[in-house]
Amino acid sequence: MRLRNVLPGDVDAYVRMRCDPIMMAHLGGPLPREGMADKVRRDAQKAADDLAWFKMIVPDAAEPDVVAGMVTVWSRDTGDGPISEIGWMVLPEFQGQGLGKRAVRTLLQQAGDQGRWGLVHAFPATNNAASNGICRSVGFRLLSPLEVAFAERVLSANHWVIDPGKELR
Ligand SMILES: CC(C)(COP(=O)(O)OP(=O)(O)OC[C@H]1O[C@@H](n2cnc3c(N)ncnc32)[C@H](O)[C@@H]1OP(=O)(O)O)[C@@H](O)C(=O)NCCC(=O)NCCS
Repeated sequence: MRLRNVLPGDVDAYVRMRCDPIMMAHLGGPLPREGMADKVRRDAQKAADDLAWFKMIVPDAAEPDVVAGMVTVWSRDTGDGPISEIGWMVLPEFQGQGLGKRAVRTLLQQAGDQGRWGLVHAFPATNNAASNGICRSVGFRLLSPLEVAFAERVLSANHWVIDPGKELR
């Protein structure tokens, strides 16, 4: 498995991840298809400028066109100052193979190695067993349940945090 920056041509993968009712079941439901190409272009530009880490998961380096999902680290302003946040998605045919966990661990390893991002927060939906499983098994600490805004929706989530330089397993 390797991670690479999101590119403007990743629209199909974004549509499959973000406009699909099953993929978005824990994230408030599917997003509209319109605007997805713009979203990919903006994310690709931010990735190229190294403002955020928007990474596509490539399961097999020998097949670089096949993507399994994505993992992202970005800075978000909470109103009380910025925090670093991580999120992830794995397409259905690649789920349950440990890829999500490996991708998250790989990106957090980079964060720790580079001393970038500080504490990294994750907010999986409280009933998202696989995402909470990823947090638990890579070394996040569970803080508390809370309500979070995602794509203009409000979701019940667990608040997890990790210091990637010290706590990654
Ligand atoms: C959540 C998601 C990223 C998990 O990716 P994945 O590659 O299937 O997960 P992994 O195979 O790496 O498994 C991660 C951990 O969760 C556990 N797990 C996986 N699927 C599970 C399930 N359905 N129920 C309970 N635990 C599960 C695994 O056993 C593993 O824990 P372990 O290391 O203790 O064994 C993927 O299912 C997904 O993208 N879902 C839809 C979108 C989404 O919910 N995104 C996340 C928003 S926070």
